[in-house]
Amino acid sequence: MTTYAETIAAGLNGHGHLLGIEGLRADQISYLLNLADGYVDQNRAVKKTTDLLSGRTVINLFFENSTRTLTSFELAAKRLGADVINMLVASSSIKKGETLIDTAMTLNAMHPDVMVVRHSDSGAVKLLSEKVNGSVINAGDGSHEHPTQALLDALTIRRRKGDLYGLRVAICGDIAHSRVARSNIHLLNTMGAEVRLIAPPTLLPAAVERMGVETFHNMKEGLEGCDIVMMLRLQLERMQGSFVPSIREYFRYFGLDQEKLAMAKPDALVMHPGPMNRGVEIDSELADDLDRSLIRTQVEMGVAVRMACLHALTQGTLNEEPAA
Ligand code: NCD
Repeated sequence: MTTYAETIAAGLNGHGHLLGIEGLRADQISYLLNLADGYVDQNRAVKKTTDLLSGRTVINLFFENSTRTLTSFELAAKRLGADVINMLVASSSIKKGETLIDTAMTLNAMHPDVMVVRHSDSGAVKLLSEKVNGSVINAGDGSHEHPTQALLDALTIRRRKGDLYGLRVAICGDIAHSRVARSNIHLLNTMGAEVRLIAPPTLLPAAVERMGVETFHNMKEGLEGCDIVMMLRLQLERMQGSFVPSIREYFRYFGLDQEKLAMAKPDALVMHPGPMNRGVEIDSELADDLDRSLIRTQVEMGVAVRMACLHALTQGTLNEEPAA
């Protein structure tokens, strides 16, 4: 007999956790997106809550700052009827490992069903997941993965374009430091989209040629024929030393404005995970242009996607959809 734990472990990376997009199959991604589609409707209704997670406890454990990810996980868990606790821990760089495991063990003793964890070190969330009994969702670990962001981006695109398959998607800017880019590359490749990375050489990760993407150092060349343009925040807090000559110069060559966007398809849409540096990686007016920008929709989809992930993990349903 297959146990509940085995069912989930078979479907997700790690053991009953959602640690990354890498390793998820296309049918599992589609299952989560289909589930999330239903939650979009629920979130637009007057009554937004169900009792699917009634009696369950979700702990949001954030060692790094967050606005939209934290609030949307909190809302997602509450809309499913769970009890939610937010723990915001300032991470001390010296005692990081010790703090992480100590905190995890302390919280584990309180029997949470799900822990949603964000940490500035790549791999820290996986380490924590090996020490606790409940399910763990990675809400961003260093520059490694941010799976729910990629899922919410995919949902946003799918609802506008119908399908991810065959779309040309450009991911632009600070790719080297971006867990959002890494998770999106895995997801888009798995779903059959064509991925282009556009960045100065200093902001491209070392092993980029193994990621199944095409790279460009020139925005206008890279944006040609694109359906979706994903802009990334310049993550100054993760940079040691100088990666870009100056902010002004960065905007001139890699900032998205109407002129550069004109190289993409006429119906191309613009995305950004937030928080945005207006005038650094994206022109402020373009970010607010409702005809071109999906940035607000991304935030809305974030709640629905996180509800779907909490649903799938706690109910062990990720494998119910037939394999593609
Ligand atoms: C991203 C993150 O924290 O990785 N933001 C987010 O989750 N909305 C991207 C970023 O910080 O630039």
